[in-house]
Amino acid sequence: MAMATFRIWRGDASGGKFEDYETGISEGMVVLDAVHQIQAEKAPDLAVRWNCKAGKCGSCSAEINGNPKLMCMTRLSDLPLDKPVTVEPMQAFPHIKDLVTDVSWNFRVKKKIKPFKPRPPDAEDGTWRMAQGDIDRVQEFRKCIECFLCQDVCHVLREHHLHDEFIGPRFFVYVASFYIHPLDTENRLKELKRADGIGYCNITKCCTKVCPENITITDNAIIPLKERVVDEFYDPVKRLLRIFRPRT
Ligand code: SF4
Ligand code: SF4
Ligand code: FES
Repeated sequence: MAMATFRIWRGDASGGKFEDYETGISEGMVVLDAVHQIQAEKAPDLAVRWNCKAGKCGSCSAEINGNPKLMCMTRLSDLPLDKPVTVEPMQAFPHIKDLVTDVSWNFRVKKKIKPFKPRPPDAEDGTWRMAQGDIDRVQEFRKCIECFLCQDVCHVLREHHLHDEFIGPRFFVYVASFYIHPLDTENRLKELKRADGIGYCNITKCCTKVCPENITITDNAIIPLKERVVDEFYDPVKRLLRIFRPRT
C-alpha cells in the first residue's frame, strides 16, 4: 500500500507543534479520511470537527498546505504526496484543540444583523408574488454552508484581528442576501458603514477564491453593498437632503 505523511498541528490555546504521522493511502481518499485513519491507528486523542463528509455541514474547515479548505472535499490525488501534507486549524479564530477552533464569534455576529423584514403580503391569503428571476439571484447566497473559510482567509480578521469592527465576507453575503431579496424592506446601510466595517474590505477577492460553494462573494455581494453605502452616505444630493430633513 502507498504511504503518505501528514504533518498535523497538535496543541491547544496555550501552544502546540506539528507532529508527523505516516499512514496508508488508497484511491479516492480525502484529507479527512487520512485524519480519521491516523486517529484510529496512532492518535486517538486527535481532535477534529466534522459531521457530513459531503461538503455540506461546513464543520471540517482547516488549512491544508497553507490553503483554507474543507478536509472532506480535498482529495489526496490533488495534493503532492512526495512531501508531508500539512494540516492545521484555521488561524482567524481561537484554537480549542488540535484542528478544532472556536468559531462562536461568527454566530454572535450573525445575531446582531437586522433580520429579514418582508413587506406586507401581496394577497389576502398572506402570500407574496415574486418573479422567478429575483428568486434565482438570491439562491447563490443561500448556498453558504457557514464553513467560515472566507473569514479565515480575510486579512482584516486573520492578520489585523478587527473582529470587533468588521463582520467579514460571510456576513456581507448574508446581508446581501437580504438586499437582493424582493420582499425585504429593512435598511442596514448605517450598520454596514459603521459597526460592520465594510470600508475595511479592500476587495482583494481572497474570500471568493476559497469559497467551496463558489459564491462570487466580492463581485456579487461586497461590491454592490459598498455601492449602496456610497450612494447613501456620499451622494451629494442625498447629503443635502439629510441636512434639511427634519429629525425624527
Ligand atoms: S475581498 Fe474584502 S472581505 Fe474578501 S478577503 Fe479581501 S478584504 Fe476580506
Ligand atoms: S461564503 Fe463560502 S467560504 Fe464563506 S462561509 Fe459561506 S460557504 Fe464558506
Ligand atoms: S464534514 Fe461536513 S463539510 Fe466537511
